[in-house]
Amino acid sequence: MDFVGNHILSVGQFDRSDVERIFQVADDMRPYAMRNRITRVLEGAIVSNMFFEPSTRTRVSFGSAFNLLGGEVRETTEVKASSLAKGESLYDTARVLSGYSDVIVMRHPEPHSVAEFAQASRVPVINGGDGPNEHPSQALLDLYTMRQEIAEQGRGVDGLSVALIGDLKYGRAVHSLCKLLGLFDDIRLHLISPPGLELPDDIVKAVQANGHEVHAFHELEPGIHGVDILYVTRTQEERFPSQAEADRYRGLFRLNQSIYTQHCEPNTVIMHPLPRDSREQAQELDDDLNTNPNLAIFRQTDNGVLVRMALFALVLDVVGEVDNHAQPVTWYTAKRHLSAKDRGVR
Ligand code: CP
Repeated sequence: MDFVGNHILSVGQFDRSDVERIFQVADDMRPYAMRNRITRVLEGAIVSNMFFEPSTRTRVSFGSAFNLLGGEVRETTEVKASSLAKGESLYDTARVLSGYSDVIVMRHPEPHSVAEFAQASRVPVINGGDGPNEHPSQALLDLYTMRQEIAEQGRGVDGLSVALIGDLKYGRAVHSLCKLLGLFDDIRLHLISPPGLELPDDIVKAVQANGHEVHAFHELEPGIHGVDILYVTRTQEERFPSQAEADRYRGLFRLNQSIYTQHCEPNTVIMHPLPRDSREQAQELDDDLNTNPNLAIFRQTDNGVLVRMALFALVLDVVGEVDNHAQPVTWYTAKRHLSAKDRGVR
């Protein structure tokens, strides 16, 4: 695809070469994310970070990514803090905000709302998550992390086997990730969910239509055997019709060190888009895995900055200019660990 000036709304926009291009640019962003040097390539540019649903890492890492490229960030963090609460339409909001910004990142609880907003926007819009539909930048950073982790085993994404665990019905990160993985060759997916929270049929069929293997499980242990990656997810409580219904699913699947040791190969990578639900009754990814060197969850979050810097650089057409605006770092910088080689560093 031509990234310049275009919206990023769905991973369905990408082919394999697009994904590889994003990853190549993300690799080039590493010295800036690591604070080895800074760049001011987007000096004067403004991103509007419009998050109409709760977020920690997507909102802050998109903002940090823009700042690391030298640009300014304006934020709204809730519907009630915006004029949507007074009945303003997405159309009007988009017309207004695109007069203030060079690019907009938006998260909204309604599926396809970001696409509706983008139609009225005069500047590129990046989907930061639209209800249960898609979370394209999350899937990109997840796949980027899988590629990085599996490279340590001397392999690439082709031939990868991934267990997707938990709420596969409402989990938008899973939806986008399945579509992205489908662009590669010989993927095997183990779909492990409670009855009622299975991956939507259309996504299963699309993955199978591309010639990949899909196996469904309703129990954790048999599904996590013999895969390269465990991708654990939270029950998306906010998407359920009632809290009582969400409560039925809480804590059904819990991955901990003991289960991992019994059922997984010693180098099986553990991922989660986060947030993980660490409340007593949930704990889908136990804290006792925190010292497991294959726990990649914080390498994922670090990689989110690289991938989001890459998206901004591609959409705003500054990829070739980033290094021309580089400067040395003049302040104390803590050592950061972005590489899978740093596994085990907490
Ligand atoms: N993974 C993710 O989207 O996290 P946030 O909801 O904190 O942004």
